[in-house]
Amino acid sequence: MLHDPTSADPAQTCELPCGFKLLQGQYQIERPLISGGFGITYLARDSLERRVVIKECFPAGLCRRNGPEVEPAAPEHAKSCRNVLRAFLREAHLLARAEHPGIVGVHQVFKENQTAYIAMEFIDGLDLLTVREEQPERLTAPVLRQILTQALEALGCVHKLGILHRDISPDNLLLGQDGILTLIDFGAAAGSTPKDDTALPMLLAVKDGYSAHELYKPDLPQRPACDIYALGATFYYLITGAPPPGSQQRLNSVMAGNPDPCPPLLGGPWAADPALLATVDQAMSVPPAERFQSTCAWAEMLAEYEAEEIVPAPGTAAEPVDDGALDAAIADLVASTNSSLTPGQPRVARKEAAPAPAPQEPRQMVNLFGEPVSDLEAWLAEEDARTRRSRNAPAAGQPPAAAGSSASADKPTFAGRLRKIFGFQNGTPATVKN
Ligand SMILES: Nc1ncnc2c1ncn2[C@@H]1O[C@H](COP(=O)(O)OP(=O)(O)OP(=O)(O)O)[C@@H](O)[C@H]1O
Ligand SMILES: [Mg+2]
Repeated sequence: MLHDPTSADPAQTCELPCGFKLLQGQYQIERPLISGGFGITYLARDSLERRVVIKECFPAGLCRRNGPEVEPAAPEHAKSCRNVLRAFLREAHLLARAEHPGIVGVHQVFKENQTAYIAMEFIDGLDLLTVREEQPERLTAPVLRQILTQALEALGCVHKLGILHRDISPDNLLLGQDGILTLIDFGAAAGSTPKDDTALPMLLAVKDGYSAHELYKPDLPQRPACDIYALGATFYYLITGAPPPGSQQRLNSVMAGNPDPCPPLLGGPWAADPALLATVDQAMSVPPAERFQSTCAWAEMLAEYEAEEIVPAPGTAAEPVDDGALDAAIADLVASTNSSLTPGQPRVARKEAAPAPAPQEPRQMVNLFGEPVSDLEAWLAEEDARTRRSRNAPAAGQPPAAAGSSASADKPTFAGRLRKIFGFQNGTPATVKN
């Protein structure tokens, strides 16, 4: 993944050359590490000869290098470039306040060369993409559990500052030899309140397989559940070795009434705890409202699932026995088990005692994007009307379908399917808690 500086002709690249000085010589570039969508990351030294990493705001495709200066690639990109730069600076300043052992430390944020830079601590580690590709044996069940805890704590800190990271993925989490996980790359970050969300052209901020479907639609609300989805997808990759199917493909499939192309991890042949698998599945739910709404909720559910597992009560652990004693104990067990059986009887299915049904709270209904629905019947009627309108809308060059006469009009609508799932008829309003 890392850039090979020997293969690049500096005249042909956008990167600052080795030895280039920034901030009156306070930082000196050693070599570029990688050029990404929003910026170029360099390895550098500070004036005390300490190794640092410098990220330069350089939105590829929107800008170009003119000497050391960064300028819009075309006049029509000037506004987008300014927006990216403003977002980069604003989030860099916020990030600088995020002091957390799981978040890369920021030394300085500064403007130079008509762009902006973040100087940050150098993390001596490998990104999780490389770890999964080159050292998968490191990702044992206990290690997965530890790094999930660390990732949830770091992301929780980001969300508390009102920031959405929006680029959680295996390449943006660095794992040190000491097992410490560090979250990096806030190049796509944005304020999590709608008012703040003026940052980036949305399509720049998506990574297929990891981005939640809300990130593909600028008009949809973006909440911490976006990052929760991406963290789930990151763990899906770490567990299976492949990124999950894209969220848009999943959404389209589910909306069309087809199976989700992303099968749940729980029950699969994966070397991870069932509790972890179950929570990753939930984090990756297609409807945002079905995901955890916060990192704390995820951590709590994980602890709850783990506590449900059968563990030996303290003091009841078996004493170590020598081989002879073990053989005798097994023989005893076999003999006593056989003596309690009646030979020749057919095996009958054991009937489990049915658990008492839990008292049910009326459920808050939400639409696919997690917005509360207070009048379900009105919402369903609206969905029906929308579906019919889109079915009757003429395709390019086609006449409009006669109302009520097309075969497709007889197909159950999305809302109709929901009515069926929730078990009530058109015109029978359900009581919904709001
Ligand atoms: N603080 C750091 N310490 C060590 N290595 C780092 C650090 N920051 C970045 N890197 C390395 O550089 C790579 C790219 O960095 P980063 O993720 O910030 O850039 P990017 O993905 O190119 O950015 P963007 O998505 O904003 O365009 C990382 O995957 C990591 O290998
Ligand atoms: Mg990155």
